[in-house]
Amino acid sequence: MVAMLYWFLWIYLATLTSAYPGGAPDGSCGHMTPAHGSPASNLDQSPFYLNVSATSYLPGEKIIVTVLSSGANFKGMFLQARGEDSPNNAIGWWEKPNGTSFKQMECAGNKNSALTHSDGMSKAAPSRFVWIAPCNSTTDYRFYATIVQEYATFYVKIPSDTVVRGNGEKVCKPPGSGGTGVSLPPLSMTLFVAIVHAVALLR
Ligand SMILES: *[C@@H]1O[C@H](CO)[C@@H](O)[C@H](O)[C@H]1NC(C)=O
Ligand SMILES: *[C@@H]1O[C@H](CO)[C@@H](O)[C@H](O)[C@H]1NC(C)=O
Ligand SMILES: *[C@@H]1O[C@H](CO)[C@@H](O)[C@H](O)[C@H]1NC(C)=O
Repeated sequence: MVAMLYWFLWIYLATLTSAYPGGAPDGSCGHMTPAHGSPASNLDQSPFYLNVSATSYLPGEKIIVTVLSSGANFKGMFLQARGEDSPNNAIGWWEKPNGTSFKQMECAGNKNSALTHSDGMSKAAPSRFVWIAPCNSTTDYRFYATIVQEYATFYVKIPSDTVVRGNGEKVCKPPGSGGTGVSLPPLSMTLFVAIVHAVALLR
């Protein structure tokens, strides 16, 4: 039993020291820059870029954002929408991504306002994600992705084209206000965290 606990602790420490295989840390919501000790790669040379499904939106409408690549795979991603009136905060909601490689994240106090990777495995583009524009929104938006290709090769805040506020109104209800906006961590992760805490207490 003790051996098992140490095994979990070892994994935990290995996780801490090998960048962020579990996703971008909360503290990087604003600057979107991984603390990898090397400078960000030049955006002009990025093999990754973003495509948006529309040039305008109404409140509550969905926009499909696709991470495209000229061939390269990537390991990490941090994706947010930023309004022209609040360029430092993640805005709107992301739907739960398909598959298990990516997950929702809370930034700027807004639940599910960012997406990040959930493991350190190689991921292929195109990867498609669905964003829902906030209610009562009047500003224009751009999407920004930080993509980690390899540990020392990452591109910070790759911008999409601008998505402007269309003319008109739309009835809009924030996701989660009517039930299923909240995603719980998987049981395995909950157990894992509980065990890590137990080990910390035993020491
Ligand atoms: C980019 O998005 C537009 C609008 O949805 C779509 O027509 C186009 O095929 C997309 N391009 C790529 C390369 O996915
Ligand atoms: C997620 O998967 C479903 C079922 O295959 C598909 O219809 C949907 O378009 C996918 N969503 C995205 C964002 O690709
Ligand atoms: C949108 O604005 C209306 C009227 O000001 C307000 O009642 C409603 O709560 C707002 N909705 C959101 C999601 O902020």
